[in-house]
Amino acid sequence: MQFHHIWVFLLVLIQSSLTEAGKCPKECNCDGTKLSVTCISKNLTEIPATIDEITVKLDLRNNNLQLLSRGAFVHTPYLTHLNLQRCNIVKVKEGAFRTLGRVTSLNLAYNKIDILYQESFDGLSSLKELILDHNRIEEIQPGAFMQLGFLNMLTLTHNQLVYIPNMAFQGLQSIKWLRLSHNSLNNLAPEAFAGLFTLNRVSLDHNELQFFPTLREVTRLDMSHNPMIYLGEESVSMAKLTHLHLNHMSLQDLSDQALSGAPLLSHLDLSHNQLRYLEPLSGPKQLSSLNLTGNPLYCNCFMRPLKQWARAGSVRLAGACAGPPHLSDEPLQAVAPADLRCRSRTEAPKEEDENDDEALKSSPPATPGINEPRHLNPPQSEAQHATCEGRGLTRIPRGFPAKTQLLDLRSNHFHHLPANSFPGAGQVVSLHLEFCKIREIEAGAFQAMKDLVYLYLSDNDLTTLERRAFAGVPKLTYLHLEGNRLARFPGSALSLLPNLFVLHLERNAISKLEPSGLPSSVTPKLRELYLSNNTITMINKGALDSALLGTLHLDSNQLMEVPTHALSGAPNLEELNLSRNLISWVGPKAFQPISQSLKRLYMDQMGIKKVPQDALLGLGAGLRALTVRGNKLKELPDLSPLTGLEVVDLQDNPLECDCLLMPLRRWMENVGLEVIATCGHPPELRGKKVKDFQVFTSCPEEVSRPEEEVMVTSRPLKKTPKLKKPKPSSLKSPKARPTKTKVKVNKPAKKQPAKKPVTPKLSKNKNTLY
Ligand SMILES: *[C@@H]1O[C@H](CO)[C@@H](O)[C@H](O)[C@H]1NC(C)=O
Ligand SMILES: *[C@@H]1O[C@H](CO)[C@@H](O)[C@H](O)[C@H]1NC(C)=O
Ligand SMILES: *[C@@H]1O[C@H](CO)[C@@H](O)[C@H](O)[C@H]1NC(C)=O
Ligand SMILES: *[C@@H]1O[C@H](CO)[C@@H](O)[C@H](O)[C@H]1NC(C)=O
Repeated sequence: MQFHHIWVFLLVLIQSSLTEAGKCPKECNCDGTKLSVTCISKNLTEIPATIDEITVKLDLRNNNLQLLSRGAFVHTPYLTHLNLQRCNIVKVKEGAFRTLGRVTSLNLAYNKIDILYQESFDGLSSLKELILDHNRIEEIQPGAFMQLGFLNMLTLTHNQLVYIPNMAFQGLQSIKWLRLSHNSLNNLAPEAFAGLFTLNRVSLDHNELQFFPTLREVTRLDMSHNPMIYLGEESVSMAKLTHLHLNHMSLQDLSDQALSGAPLLSHLDLSHNQLRYLEPLSGPKQLSSLNLTGNPLYCNCFMRPLKQWARAGSVRLAGACAGPPHLSDEPLQAVAPADLRCRSRTEAPKEEDENDDEALKSSPPATPGINEPRHLNPPQSEAQHATCEGRGLTRIPRGFPAKTQLLDLRSNHFHHLPANSFPGAGQVVSLHLEFCKIREIEAGAFQAMKDLVYLYLSDNDLTTLERRAFAGVPKLTYLHLEGNRLARFPGSALSLLPNLFVLHLERNAISKLEPSGLPSSVTPKLRELYLSNNTITMINKGALDSALLGTLHLDSNQLMEVPTHALSGAPNLEELNLSRNLISWVGPKAFQPISQSLKRLYMDQMGIKKVPQDALLGLGAGLRALTVRGNKLKELPDLSPLTGLEVVDLQDNPLECDCLLMPLRRWMENVGLEVIATCGHPPELRGKKVKDFQVFTSCPEEVSRPEEEVMVTSRPLKKTPKLKKPKPSSLKSPKARPTKTKVKVNKPAKKQPAKKPVTPKLSKNKNTLY
């Protein structure tokens, strides 16, 4: 032992005398003047321990590190550049980079990372560029990027993302370019990109998206290589967008209003789609380039309006005619409008012959019918989808290309799916069977679809589900069963789906939920459960037991009370929608079991008459959204402990506008949110906004809750002993809280009422709550 130590010591001594900058690990090359260390392709399994502390650039490409443990870089606190490409990294433990507050560039490409944990990137507070391409990332945990406030570019291409949850990129306050190309994205939560005010460029190409995301700030968007067939009116609504790539998407048609929400668009790439015609696009006034290369454009009179429009607006058209024969291969830009002619009268566009009934009825010939499964984009290996939508089929057709990934069989008449209905569909990821009048699914119907992740069985006629209906699809993650006639929660059928993440059961006939239905053991990964529009009257304790459940929609059912006992089995619930039930009274501690996790609570249109003070007991700073719109509330409990509210909706309640409402009124003035509340009583004030109501100024100073403390602004009055922070988890002692301007998510934050401060009179008030 002793000898070993001495040996190491000597070795270090010799090495440091050899290199100017100090110690250099034997596997590495060190450059003392650049303060850089490179240890490339050395099959290292650990980060060399003897790297000089003052190193600024560390290149560890091509090694075998496998795991980055907490504090892995604690000995090199001055790093600015860290390259960990191709290091066989499987897992980045929380806090691995915690000591690297100076790193601006981190490259983790070509590793085997599958999950980005909440604290994976903690400590990288100067990071500008994070490269995670070519990993196996399939999950981004909430808050993963929370600490990366200086990041400009995040690249996540060539991963296995299928879904981006709400607020996934929260914390990226300086992000400019987000690259999500080459994933399997099919689903983006509505608020997936919320709060990214600096984001101006997004790459979503080579995914499985069938709709456009909402990206308010973005100027450049790449959506190419996604399986979209048609773009309807206002599909694209992005006020700042200038460059849009829609190439290689299998578009067959495009509404002339599709881009009406993109007024600044200057470059539009529609190359390599299936467009035979295109109408002039309304909306973009500054379009300078329209690329139609690689479309089967038929250059007859129907193309004339486009050509005239392009000429008038100086839009440069790229692409060539595919027909008729005499114009084929003729560049679109070179064809004169007069050459765009139709031979027969019925072929003529309306404009030419306004009074002719026959002509009025005519329209551009549709894209050739799709009678059998057809690979829409044969030359491209990327967009692997086939469609037989609305063909009146009564049997599942056979003979799809083996590589098909998206199979769209919507709106047919299958009635019944026999076992093994999809042989050879082993690579299908997304299967659409909506509106197919399916009454029965036999055991093993989807057998062999081993890659199936999305299954859409919405709007069929299912009344029950056979226990083995979903046998053989273990990867199934998103299951849509809404709009059927299921009378019971299909618990036993779900037990074959260990990876189920999102389950839609809206618009069925489920009347109660029982413990046998949904224990964690059946669907341990379930995160979102949608049960809106059923006839649920009862939820037994144990029925919602689900360790990971985050979103639960129970709106539009017939619940008479908040299912508090059942909620205790879902300790991670973040979003609960109880709107449109028959709950007229919210009992004490109704949300206590989920008070630590709940972020969004919706209780609209329920006929609630009263929410006693203790009903919200336990809820505190964690609650972000609360809506009680359209109830029968005359008064409200004290909301001041809910210091984290970003959205609050109190509209359409018959609030009693007397002095008892004063605490609410003052709270409204100080939260920095736009709170809309109207008076219902007394009759002469009905419909008036609580905000505008002046009578409160004549209220006596003491109205209620005498034990409460005094605090108006962040400057406490002398009388107040000390500024105490409220205990967020308790409503019992609504003590002082400093006023705080909340930054709203969806509406621009209103400044503190600086111009309209709480009047001095009020500020001396004994029972001001804030
Ligand atoms: C790299 O290291 C691992 C484990 O230390 C070993 O199994 C493997 O053979 C090494 N590979 C090379 C190319 O040296
Ligand atoms: C149009 O698209 C094609 C194929 O995508 C590309 O090669 C060409 O450069 C584009 N032309 C213009 C003017 O953008
Ligand atoms: C519930 O049903 C109502 C009325 O039919 C409908 O307007 C609403 O969109 C449905 N909600 C959901 C989530 O299905
Ligand atoms: C909650 O349910 C109501 C009633 O069905 C619906 O209108 C509302 O959009 C839902 N809110 C959310 C956030 O899902």
